[in-house]
Amino acid sequence: MLSTATLALATSACAGPQSALETAGPAAETLATLWWWMAAGAVVIWVVVVGLAVWAVRISPEAHDEGRARLLIVGGGAVFPTVVLTGLLVYGLRLMPDLLEPGPEDGLRIEVTGEQWWWRVRYHPPEDTEPATAAEAARPPWPGGPVVSANEIRMPVGERVEFRLDSPDVIHSLWIPALGGKMDMIPGRVNRIALEADRTGTFRGTCAEYCGASHALMSFQVVVMEPEDFRVWLGEQAAPAAEPGEADARRGEEVFLSVGCGACHTVRGTPADGVVGPDLTHVGSRLTVGAGILPNDREGFYRWVGWTDEVKPRVHMPAFGMLPEEELRALAAYLDGLR
Ligand code: CUA
Repeated sequence: MLSTATLALATSACAGPQSALETAGPAAETLATLWWWMAAGAVVIWVVVVGLAVWAVRISPEAHDEGRARLLIVGGGAVFPTVVLTGLLVYGLRLMPDLLEPGPEDGLRIEVTGEQWWWRVRYHPPEDTEPATAAEAARPPWPGGPVVSANEIRMPVGERVEFRLDSPDVIHSLWIPALGGKMDMIPGRVNRIALEADRTGTFRGTCAEYCGASHALMSFQVVVMEPEDFRVWLGEQAAPAAEPGEADARRGEEVFLSVGCGACHTVRGTPADGVVGPDLTHVGSRLTVGAGILPNDREGFYRWVGWTDEVKPRVHMPAFGMLPEEELRALAAYLDGLR
């Protein structure tokens, strides 16, 4: 009864959008299998060790003869671990070539840069090639040049996508547990990892390498879409920002441009062309604000812009809580409207 409850509790904690055991891609599945083998091995070894301890203390507490003791020490302390660890090493090494296989030369490439503490994302669509099937011919054309976004990664289902990873200052590590293993983002070099998703859905990725005060506050959503939907989405992302419609948002754009937001942020189609912070051209269409911290709505933008360093300690962006309430609300309406 107790063990059933424990098992239910333990496995329920293993599910969810950031689970390495509820997989959504072949690489993650390979790693999950390795994990189950290691977990099963650990359980067997734990049972044997505890069994031996009970045997030595309770069942046969008298002094053991030296030959038997030596056999246990050499056998259990050296031979057994060597055999088990060598087996696991060989098994693990045989998985590596597949996991490290680069993406297709002419496929979709996504550059992700780890920043303190957010993710710069650039999509490099593949060169236009002759469509192989009628379904492919019906797809909308790729937009030209890289498409810039932040804190959210979208990718087509069933395609091996190559991620090129770097960082301008400190080391981060990109980890999307449902899709595969971690890969470090190291200043001065570009690391690659190719990932494929075999089902659509929204998954959570995170930084897996301590990178400063707000390391735990840089996550991102990974949205796996049908290839056609992905191409439509990419086309929308490549377009400049929509003109703000309602009065609130128009006022917000004025504030945005007059208080200097454009020195750090780009909103394509406006004079704002800074590259220090995230590109905000379509920020209102993302799932979260502040790299996975706040909900993407007016309240989220209001809190983020007004109390930035409370939401994310030591972040480079200054807080704008000193602005009049009306201007802060207008800014939030403008950002929320950048769909
Ligand atoms: Cu970025 Cu930890």
